[in-house]
This record gives sequence, structure tokens and C-alpha cells, in this order.
Amino acid sequence: MLEQSELALEVSHLKKYFRMKGGTLKAVDDVSFSIRRGETLGLVGESGCGKTTCGRTCVGLYDKTGGQVLYRGKDVHQLRGKARKAFTKQVQTIFQDPYASLDPRLRVEEIIAEGMRNHHIGAGPKERRELVYALLEQVGLRREHASRYIHECSGGQRQRIGIARALAVDPEFVMCDEPISALDVSIQAQIVNLLIRLQKERGLTYLFIAHDLSMVKHISDRVAVMYLGTLVELTSSSELYAHPAHPYTRALLSAIPIPNPRVEEQRRRTVLEGEVPSPIDPPPGCRFRSRCPYASERCAQEMPPLQEVSPGHLVACHAVSGR
Ligand SMILES: Nc1ncnc2c1ncn2[C@@H]1O[C@H](COP(=O)(O)OP(=O)(O)O)[C@@H](O)[C@H]1O
Ligand code: SF4
Ligand SMILES: [Mg+2]
Repeated sequence: MLEQSELALEVSHLKKYFRMKGGTLKAVDDVSFSIRRGETLGLVGESGCGKTTCGRTCVGLYDKTGGQVLYRGKDVHQLRGKARKAFTKQVQTIFQDPYASLDPRLRVEEIIAEGMRNHHIGAGPKERRELVYALLEQVGLRREHASRYIHECSGGQRQRIGIARALAVDPEFVMCDEPISALDVSIQAQIVNLLIRLQKERGLTYLFIAHDLSMVKHISDRVAVMYLGTLVELTSSSELYAHPAHPYTRALLSAIPIPNPRVEEQRRRTVLEGEVPSPIDPPPGCRFRSRCPYASERCAQEMPPLQEVSPGHLVACHAVSGR
């Protein structure tokens, strides 16, 4: 067992439901995982499977329906006063679409300095301006960018500004919600490499959300795969790519093109058929069974628990047993 002090985030049996006209939408339904300090946990799954809701609930942006989230041992949803303020400095978020999350009426300098002012970082406007210049350099921009508006910047530059804004308050933990999904493929690797460098320099911990597995491998120490509100597989990045066990993970991985054409030729593609079912009042049993080629009678009756199949490798599937 890990010492409490080594853990940044501990999520236990987390539930986040939305009450809808037609029933209860179970966006996050009994999810448990932890993230060590300095680690990157990738969270992947198709669009609509609950990644954003999970991430936002973990960092206290949403109330929870059930379960618990501890950040460095403290219950995120019970923080008040000074402890709450400290948490809003320690934990920052980078969003998929900086265009929607960064205020278009403010200059880049003001966007980045806003959090500094709130958390009393920098003695005054002059010192904060110097800090903004230093941050711009750290994220690969120039001081000229400080006086621009968001609409005058490219997609990649905007995401760099979003990163600078998150780092301006010197956080420990950053929830990155699909920070590269809206960017050109050529820019994606640059942003991922920037996040990796900043993590090394600052000892940051990341929850890195993505809808495909290709970039996640590069940045993550461990990866959690989510399907319809539940985790179906969780293991180290290398193990996940070498020995993917859950039929859903295997299908997701088979959708990534492999650069070597001979490997690509020999590979059997598992095509994900069918739509993601509705998360409103999901039926009992395995949530993947409507699309699973291995589904059996048991899969319709019992929800498979997330179980360790080899050291540190957890899988939720009746058809997978230990190696
Ligand atoms: N504020 C909300 N109110 C109602 N339903 C929501 C809300 N946010 C997300 N959902 C629903 O919860 C499910 C998970 O959404 P989301 O967490 O955004 O998934 P992802 O980030 O994996 O694409 C979806 O069915 C979505 O429609
Ligand atoms: S539990 Fe059954 S339906 Fe679910 S992934 Fe495993 S084999 Fe497929
Ligand atoms: Mg999302």
C-alpha cells in the first residue's frame, strides 16, 4: 500500500448522476482510482463516456452524487474557507477549447495575471508583468503575446496561454481535459512535449483526459479506460499497450494506425460496432455487452467488477482471468 503522503488524488466509488426527464443519467457510476504525486494518469474513452464529468467532479467543479474524492488526504467536496482557497491554487484545469475558456475581452497578460492577483502572487502589477513574461517564455511564447487578444492567436498559441494561466498560480496538480483534441496533429505533439517538460521542471501531477489512445501513451505513467460511466481497465501505460485485456480497450487500440506497414497488414482490426448506449438508467450487467463480441449470458446478469488480473493490472470483464 502507498503511504497517504505519496498520493495526490484518491477517488473511491465516485458517482455523479444527472437527473433528467427520462430518468437518471449515470455519467460517473462507481469509479475508483488514485494518482500518485508527480504521476500522470491518462483517462481515455469515446466521447460521452463520462471523462469530463469525472475530471470535473474530482477537482470539485461539480458536486458529487456519491463516493469520495480526497486531495492529499482532504475531502475535496467538504473544503471551506481557507482550505478551499488553498485547493483552488493547488489544483488547476486546462480545457479542450481555450477559445471558450479564456475571456476574449481581456489581453493575454490580464488572462494570465488574474489568478496571480486572486492568490496574492507578485507584489504589484509590475512584478506580475515580469512573472507573466517569464511564464510566456516557459510555454514557448514571447513577451509580445502579452498585449494580444485571444482571437489574435493561433489554436496552439491559445492552448499555450491556457497552460500559462494554469501555471501562473504555481499549482501542484493539473486536470488536463482533452488539451490537444482541438489542435492540428502537427501541434498536438508540441503541446504534449511542453506538458511533459513542465511536469519535470515543476514536479506536477496530471490527470490527462483524451478520447483516443495515441498521445496518451506518450504522456501517461498509467492509463484508465472508461466506458459508459465506469472504468473497464487500469494499468501502466506500457502494460496497456503490450497486453490490453478488456475487449473495449482492444477495440480502441486497434483503431490507432501502426506506423510499420507490415505490422499493420498482419493486424486483425477489431471494429467497434454499434453506438454507445444511453447512460440513462443503464440495464444491469456489463455496460459494454451490446457491442462486445464475447458477451455471454452472465454478462447480461452481472456487472463485472474491476479486478486485478496481474500485478497492478485491473480489468472489469467476465471473460478475462489472471495471467
Ligand atoms: N451538465 C450535464 N447535464 C446533463 N447531462 C450531462 C451533463 N454533462 C454531461 N452530461 C452527460 O453525461 C455523459 C458524459 O458526458 P461527459 O462527461 O461530457 O463525457 P466525455 O467527456 O467522456 O465526452 C453524457 O451522456 C453527457 O450527455
Ligand atoms: S464482461 Fe462480457 S460483455 Fe463485458 S466486456 Fe467482458 S465479455 Fe464482453
Ligand atoms: Mg469531455
